[in-house]
Amino acid sequence: MELDPEKLPPAERYGLLISVIQPRPIAWVSTQNHKGQSNLAPFSFFTGITAQPMSVCFAPVRNRQGKKKDTLINIESTGEFVINVATQQSAEKMNQTSAEYPYGVSEFERAGLTPLPSVRVQPPRVGESPVSLECKLIQVIHLSEGPLGGNLVLGRIVYVHIQDPVWKEGKISHRDLQAIGRLEGSFYARVTDTFEMPRPRRPS
Ligand SMILES: Cc1cc2nc3c(=O)[nH]c(=O)nc-3n(C[C@H](O)[C@H](O)[C@H](O)COP(=O)(O)O)c2cc1C
Repeated sequence: MELDPEKLPPAERYGLLISVIQPRPIAWVSTQNHKGQSNLAPFSFFTGITAQPMSVCFAPVRNRQGKKKDTLINIESTGEFVINVATQQSAEKMNQTSAEYPYGVSEFERAGLTPLPSVRVQPPRVGESPVSLECKLIQVIHLSEGPLGGNLVLGRIVYVHIQDPVWKEGKISHRDLQAIGRLEGSFYARVTDTFEMPRPRRPS
């Protein structure tokens, strides 16, 4: 099978991309608008960038009608967001928060999740998430407008919350974190079959 992306409609390209890049970690992003109404949604086009500055990025695309998602609208107006880690225990609620509720409706309330105060930013973090990263916006890179138009949000991590049970020997234990990964279609992966492979030593 060989494919020329230029010959595919955007929705098919999107489906192809999410089946190429798997598993993907899930940023469960909480934001607030200027009225203080909170918003929560998952994004799996997500990764860390570097430690200096300690930074992350994720990609909220425009929806199929070409409109910006609530998460992006809020980040562009306030410059703040929190990335919460989605886990096995919270998987169904995370999925529920991906529904397209009208702007201003809180997915925390709809999914029965606990908003906890953040320390350095206004948006609340998710109490059910064992790790939360408070972030301030560095930059939004707009790739295109129209349906599925791409945006990349870059954020600097200004505060980190880690619940004690997942913190083992100076790091976050993958066994205790139980993060989930997004696969193709509606499939997800659990981190239950892992292996260790130390990096090679520097050649002499
Ligand atoms: C696991 C998962 C991962 C998702 N990843 C993305 C993503 O990377 N980019 C995106 O634009 N939408 C993604 N979505 C869809 C958004 O969560 C969905 O459009 C949501 O309604 C956006 O909410 P908002 O308008 O409140 O920001 C994902 C949905 C799920 C369930």
